[in-house]
Amino acid sequence: MNSKVTVVGAGNVGATAAQRLAEKELCDVVLIDIIEGVPQGKALDLTEAAAIEKHDAQLTGTNDYEASAGSDIVIITAGIPRKPGMSRDDLISTNAGIMKKVTQAICQKSPDAVLIIVSNPLDAMCQVAYETSGFPKNRIIGMAGVLDSARFRAFIAMELDVSVENTHAFVLGGHGDTMVPLPRFSTVAGIPITELMSKERIDALVDRTANGGAEIVSLLKTGSAYYAPASAAVEMAESILKDKKKILPCAAYLEGEYGINDLFIGVPVKLGANGIEGVIEISLTDDEKAALKKSADAVAELKSVLAGIDY
Ligand code: APR
Repeated sequence: MNSKVTVVGAGNVGATAAQRLAEKELCDVVLIDIIEGVPQGKALDLTEAAAIEKHDAQLTGTNDYEASAGSDIVIITAGIPRKPGMSRDDLISTNAGIMKKVTQAICQKSPDAVLIIVSNPLDAMCQVAYETSGFPKNRIIGMAGVLDSARFRAFIAMELDVSVENTHAFVLGGHGDTMVPLPRFSTVAGIPITELMSKERIDALVDRTANGGAEIVSLLKTGSAYYAPASAAVEMAESILKDKKKILPCAAYLEGEYGINDLFIGVPVKLGANGIEGVIEISLTDDEKAALKKSADAVAELKSVLAGIDY
């Protein structure tokens, strides 16, 4: 029997994730949305592409959760994206309500699923899914660091005119302007970028990475990035489905790791069949610690905003 992944939200990120999951033939896909016809239409369209793309993944589009029963993984992208001038945090009250409803419905049908959260503001939405589901912390994982580090890798490859496949990047912290790209652990063919670029150029790339989402929003004008976010969610799903145990930067619920307590924040984790199978702790310099603390403080502030909202 094929694995089953449900994608909730058949918009830009959700439909692109469904396409990538199917075309990589990782699993059967159930696509859910509240808008009637949209998930059905997109699932049928993707099914009709299968002969050409050469896969036998089954795609189902629906407005209810029946077909999602027994999913191995659920990727939640439901919610509104930001528009120019908005920060991810501006989405909190609308998306918290949506996240709560979706999580309740998912838990009833797929009590053993691993949830990959994509909706923004990411760290706060992970908190909503965690509290609503009552799932153990290893089964609630936020997609942020894989995207942020892919952006950093793209900029490193452009800067040095090298294959992006040779790059590796390390990003910690919340999925917002306070994220913490770590140049000393970011490499090209194993060589730290600190050996390959001036501090000024590294700072410029770090800044572009931290504002990578806003750069796309200002170009698209009607929504936010979706190709790279979908790729990132699918890389996480693949590591879990195949029990690959990849080390990937993801938002995880921390209880003391990195000196942070009771918060979802981006750290390197091992992703396998059980979801998060370990948090990798590295020792940080004082500056890096301070940057991570600032990022954690921003996430904690958003958590307190969440506590004050009746969603
Ligand atoms: N249940 C299911 N689907 C829902 C619900 C709900 N309660 N509420 C909204 N949706 C659906 C919308 O109908 C829409 O099709 O979620 C989809 C969101 O798609 P887009 O508007 O295209 O947004 P997208 O770009 O995919 O971003 C989704 O991911 O990256 C984050 O910040 C982004 O929070 C946003 C989310």
